[in-house]
Amino acid sequence: METMKISSDQEMRELGEKIGKSLQGGEVFELIGDVGAGKTTFVKGLAMGLKITDDVQSPSFTINRSYEARDGLILNHYDFYRLENAGIMAQEIAESLSYPTTITVVEWGESVHDVLPENRIIIKISYLPESGRRVMIKNHPLKG
Ligand SMILES: Nc1ncnc2c1ncn2[C@@H]1O[C@H](COP(=O)(O)OP(=O)(O)OP(=O)(O)O)[C@@H](O)[C@H]1O
Ligand SMILES: [Mg+2]
Repeated sequence: METMKISSDQEMRELGEKIGKSLQGGEVFELIGDVGAGKTTFVKGLAMGLKITDDVQSPSFTINRSYEARDGLILNHYDFYRLENAGIMAQEIAESLSYPTTITVVEWGESVHDVLPENRIIIKISYLPESGRRVMIKNHPLKG
């Protein structure tokens, strides 16, 4: 588990970009943190590192957005905010997980916990004063 302090949204994107550059496909991220913590901001950075040219938007109302990335990779970004019952989305996630060229990122993933792999990368963001954030990363892809 790595813990770091992030001071601005720019720094959060840079963290995402650095990790995004290292991805090879098949990675699964669960992003945890309150509304406005910076989960989607982190994904914008991941997208930069994956050379995605489309603007990454919060998928809140669409549940899922999919982006074409470098090297034939696909980024699938899910947001299950206030979704109590994953229903058919569990199936959809399971399918996303089955492709080695797909990177799966989930915000508000409680309702799909049973389909997420144990070894997923967990990014937990909490508020610090002003625009600071504490970021805890479990299974950091760039460390050990
Ligand atoms: N250190 C920081 N890291 C990330 N975002 C920050 C930081 N400081 C300020 N912000 C701002 O906080 C907001 C974070 O919004 P974002 O959509 O990333 O949150 P979220 O965790 O995805 O929320 P939601 O649960 O609603 O999807 C943005 O407006 C961003 O500019
Ligand atoms: Mg979000």
